[in-house]
Amino acid sequence: MKIQRFSRIGFIMAAAGSAVGLGNIWKFPYMTGVYGGGAFVLVYLVTIAFIGFSVMVAEMLIGALGRSDTVSSFEKLAPPGKKWWKYAGFMGFNGIIIMTFYSVVIGWIFYYLVSIFGGLPDSTQTAKSIFNDLVANKVNLQIFFHTLSVAIVAYIVHKGIKSGIEKINLILMPSLMLILFGLLAYAFSLDGFKEALAFMFEPKWEKLNSEAFIRAVGHSFFTLSLGMGAIMTYAASLPKDTSITKTAFIVTFMDTLIALVAGLVIFSFLFQFNAQPSQGPGLVFISLPTILSNFGTLGVFFALLFFLALAFAGITSAISLVEPVVQYLIDRFGMTRTKAVIVISLVYWLVGIGAILSYSKAWGDVFSIGGKPLFDVLEYATDSILLPLGGFLIAIFVGYVLPKSEVRAHLNNPNEFKAILYKIWLFSIRYIAPIALIFMMLNLMGIIKL
Ligand code: TRP
Repeated sequence: MKIQRFSRIGFIMAAAGSAVGLGNIWKFPYMTGVYGGGAFVLVYLVTIAFIGFSVMVAEMLIGALGRSDTVSSFEKLAPPGKKWWKYAGFMGFNGIIIMTFYSVVIGWIFYYLVSIFGGLPDSTQTAKSIFNDLVANKVNLQIFFHTLSVAIVAYIVHKGIKSGIEKINLILMPSLMLILFGLLAYAFSLDGFKEALAFMFEPKWEKLNSEAFIRAVGHSFFTLSLGMGAIMTYAASLPKDTSITKTAFIVTFMDTLIALVAGLVIFSFLFQFNAQPSQGPGLVFISLPTILSNFGTLGVFFALLFFLALAFAGITSAISLVEPVVQYLIDRFGMTRTKAVIVISLVYWLVGIGAILSYSKAWGDVFSIGGKPLFDVLEYATDSILLPLGGFLIAIFVGYVLPKSEVRAHLNNPNEFKAILYKIWLFSIRYIAPIALIFMMLNLMGIIKL
C-alpha cells in the first residue's frame, strides 16, 4: 500500500486540526466554569505538559515507525511472540464511536449558524427553550444537519491525505485562529476581560475537588486527540526527517492556546453582563447567544463568527476521527478509499440517529440503555473508558514493549529530546502516564473513589 505524505506544515495543521475541536471551544470553557476557574485550568495545564505531551510523542512515534494503519503499525512494531499487540490497534475504532455523537453536535452548530440570522434570544429563558426544543422535539431537523455533517466529513476524507485532509486543514485552521484572535482583540477592549483573566488564572484552591481534578486530567487527554490512533494514523504520513518532539510540542501548544483564548473570549462576554460562568454544557448554546444579544447587530455578527469557528474546529477533528478506520479498511481489506468511507459513514450516521432519538421526547425511552440516553452512554464509554485505555496501551507499548534502544535512537538525538528531557519523558511514559490513566479510568467507572 502506498501512504501519501503530508507536507510539514500540512501535518502540523492536520494534527492541530484534530486536537483543536469542540473540546477546546465548547467543553473546556464550560468545564472551567463548572469547576471553578483558575485551579481547574492549572491542573489542566500541568497534565497537558506532563501526561498529554508525553503520550502525544509516544503516539506519533508508533505512527512514524509503523507507517501504516493502527492495527498494522502495532503488529509490525511488536517483537516476535508479542504480535497480539496488534489488537491494541483497534483503538482506531473508538473514533467511530465518538463520531456517533460528535457529528450530532456539529449538526447543532450548523443549525445555530442558520438560525442566528433570525436574531438572537433576548433572555436565558428563550435561549433555553430554543435549545431544548431542538433537542427534544426537532428530530428531523437534527437528522438533516447530522446528515450534512456526515456528508461533508465523508467528502473530505474520501479525497485522501493530500487533496482532502491536508488541504482543508490548511484553509480551516488559519481561518479559525483568525476568528478567535479577532474576537479576543475585541474582548480585550471590554471591562469583562479583566474579570475573565482573573477567573481563569487566579486559582481558588478551595473550589478544586477530586472530581474537578480527575476531569481536568481526562480533558487534557481528550483535547489532544490521544488514545484512539488519530494522531498515530496521521503520523504514518509524517514527512521524512520531521522532528517528532518539536511537532508534538507545536501541536500541544496550539491546542492549549486555542482553548485558553476561547475561554477568555466567552468569559469576557459573560462577565461584561454579569452572567454566571457555571452553566455547564449549555454555556455556548444558551448563555453565549443570550449575552451576545446585548450587542445588537454586532452581537449577531460575533455569534456568526463564533459558531463558524466552532464548526471549523468540529469538522477538522471529525476528519481525524474517521480516517483511522478508513485507513484500516484500505490496508487490511483492500477496499478503495471511497468504499471504505461510505461503509464507515453509514455506520456512524445510523448510530448517530439513535443518539439523536435518545434525547427526543418521543423516542427517548426506546433509545436508552439502563435508563441512560444512548447519547450519554456513547460519550461516557469513550471519554471514561476507551480513551484512557487507548492511552494506557500506547504508554505501555512505547515504554516497555518497543526495544529501549530503538526508542532511544529515535527520540534521544539532536533533532529530538536532549538527554535530560528524554529521561523525563521516559519516566512520564513508563510511570506517570500509565498510573494516572488507569487511576482516572477506574475512578470514572466508579470502581475506586478519591
Ligand atoms: N480533540 C478533539 C476535541 O478537542 C476531539 C477529538 C478528535 C478526539 N479526535 C480525537 C478525541 C481523537 C480523542 C481522540 O474536540
